Amino acid sequence: MQNKKFYVTTPIYYVNDLPHLGHAYTTVAADIISRFKRLQGYDVFFLTGTDEHGQKVEQAAQKRNVAPQEHCDELHLRFKELWKRLNVSNNDFIRTTEERHKEIVRQVLQVLFDKGEIYKDSYEGWYCLPDERFWTEKDLVKGNCPECGRKVDRIKEYNYFFKMGKYQNWLNEYIKSNEIVILPSNRRNEVLGFLNKELGDLCISRPKERLKWGIPLPFDEDYVTYVWFDALINYITAAGYHKDEKSFNHWWPADFHLVGKDILTTHSVYWLTMLKAVGIPLPENIFAHGWWTVNGQKMSKSLLNVVEPNRLINEYGADAVRYFLMREVPFGLDGDFSHEALIGRINTDLANNLGNLLNRTLNMVQRYFNGTIPEPVGDNDMERDLINKAAQIVQEVEKLLECLEFSKILVSIWEFIDATNKYIDSSAPWNLAKSEEMRGRLSTVMYNALEALRTIAILLYPFMPEKADEIHRQIGMTEDSLSQEMDSVKKWGGVKAGVSINRSEQLFPRIDDDRKEELLKKLKGESMEESKKETQENKKEDHGSSADLNMISIDEFAKLDLRVGEIKEAEKVEKSKRLIKLKVNIGVETRQVVAGIATCYSADELIGKKIILVANLKPARLMGIESQGMVLAATSGDKITLAGFQDEVTLGSRVK
Ligand code: MSP
Repeated sequence: MQNKKFYVTTPIYYVNDLPHLGHAYTTVAADIISRFKRLQGYDVFFLTGTDEHGQKVEQAAQKRNVAPQEHCDELHLRFKELWKRLNVSNNDFIRTTEERHKEIVRQVLQVLFDKGEIYKDSYEGWYCLPDERFWTEKDLVKGNCPECGRKVDRIKEYNYFFKMGKYQNWLNEYIKSNEIVILPSNRRNEVLGFLNKELGDLCISRPKERLKWGIPLPFDEDYVTYVWFDALINYITAAGYHKDEKSFNHWWPADFHLVGKDILTTHSVYWLTMLKAVGIPLPENIFAHGWWTVNGQKMSKSLLNVVEPNRLINEYGADAVRYFLMREVPFGLDGDFSHEALIGRINTDLANNLGNLLNRTLNMVQRYFNGTIPEPVGDNDMERDLINKAAQIVQEVEKLLECLEFSKILVSIWEFIDATNKYIDSSAPWNLAKSEEMRGRLSTVMYNALEALRTIAILLYPFMPEKADEIHRQIGMTEDSLSQEMDSVKKWGGVKAGVSINRSEQLFPRIDDDRKEELLKKLKGESMEESKKETQENKKEDHGSSADLNMISIDEFAKLDLRVGEIKEAEKVEKSKRLIKLKVNIGVETRQVVAGIATCYSADELIGKKIILVANLKPARLMGIESQGMVLAATSGDKITLAGFQDEVTLGSRVK
């Protein structure tokens, strides 16, 4: 019999920027569901990818002085690489610039056009450039974009429209009937509230003269599709729509679209009406999660507080990051990120509760049984309670999974970790070990503690695949039972007596106060709030006008964005005597910089040097290589000396 299928998607991420915590959040969540479903025996299709068309991407490419396709080819890799580092087990990665996708978008457009669902009309409205969206007068909030609060422009042009409005009543009823589940329920109510207002038709095109970087409409090549119309279709493209009927019929409809709360309307209104109009079945569930703030502030580039998942992985490891994201905040609510909170979780939940349970159990098996797993000898109420608790937790976990209550799932698993720690405490193996008579009882206790750890490893596997594997290996399990079905967690007794354990390094070393301080110093970039304040203060100070043309005002100097950077990589540019290509970490990001210092520095000696980078210099190309900034150096005759620092400095700090 064919397995039940499960199809889960993440939004496809814009490649106008580097991946951040918000992107990692949805993708890790989708990974956890996928891994659980695979454990439960489902045939899983987990899709993620990148959204590569549109004005923002075009502008980002322009800023970097590269062609949009080149920009996308580079930037999409940052997402792919991050998912690999985070152990994300996606089955496909779709890019909207791929032929397979463009072809389906054009087909869908043609089908809708032929059905009379798309028409051309003139349109005048308020356009938000950063969000690439038109708004009506009544949508505006204090004359600005209702979504991002930024300035909007009045634009009139001819465009193509999808007859979305005519589906308003149908969609209202459909959502109310719960044939599609929109979670959490407050978000469902928001959508229904949105549908209480008149639903207009949807502008789906942009004239080519205004936007080049898009998919041309098949029925009018002077226009390209509007970002959302292009992007949403990725979910059916990847499943095989119009290409591979067998695959499409197997996977579609999607079981879960995971999205952030900001893109719920596009998914539950645009997407559902589009599917209805084409005649494609609708997805089963849409889940809108909350947003992360950072120390109480919105995460934003201008505040210099964007949390880069790669840096978190470097310092804390992928599994600790995955755990924190899912444990700290109930999925669906907004949450706040801070390194302190993350370190707290590592020390308490991971090192103390889980890590200690593993360590003490393995240490005792080593000490009392020379590292060989003993055969249990009978049981009593304590074992029966532990086994019942395990069964109850497994049941709870499976139930909570249906509504994606990740943080509650982890609370349940930790309840079982606590129960196992208590089981050991009450059984007191250290006392049992004192008398030969109690040898049988000691064997039972150690065996059951190991078995509880096996259960914990399987339940934790979707959240922390690497560490769960590690627990599994350390408790002497050799075959790959972690990827086995959930059923194996329901059968007590999987641990094998007579087998050796493999004690190794601590699962999650504690982060002590010294290390914590060091880490916090290193990771916390200077808050832009401060530097903004300073710039404003500087502006207030009038340093008078200088008659000397060589003098600059403090305002002019403040335009320079000088940052502390560390050279991470250096490579001599072939065929150039002077140039070295550097990768410079400036805290929030890594820049590629080409510097003319090869006559005085070898590539090797540059690695690790702290330098000053002009961070807001327009990118330039030197021997065909893009340079995103300039390093400061003193020159005297032939001698070049890089400017640096006498004392420890934090990467990314502003140099003034
Ligand atoms: N390209 C569109 C999605 C098209 S899907 C057919 C898009 N891309 S995005 O890169 O801007 O955002 C992707 C996701 O990141 C969204 O779900 C958004 O909610 C999420 N997040 C962006 N910032 C976030 C936080 N600060 N916190 C949590 N998630 C956040 O929108």
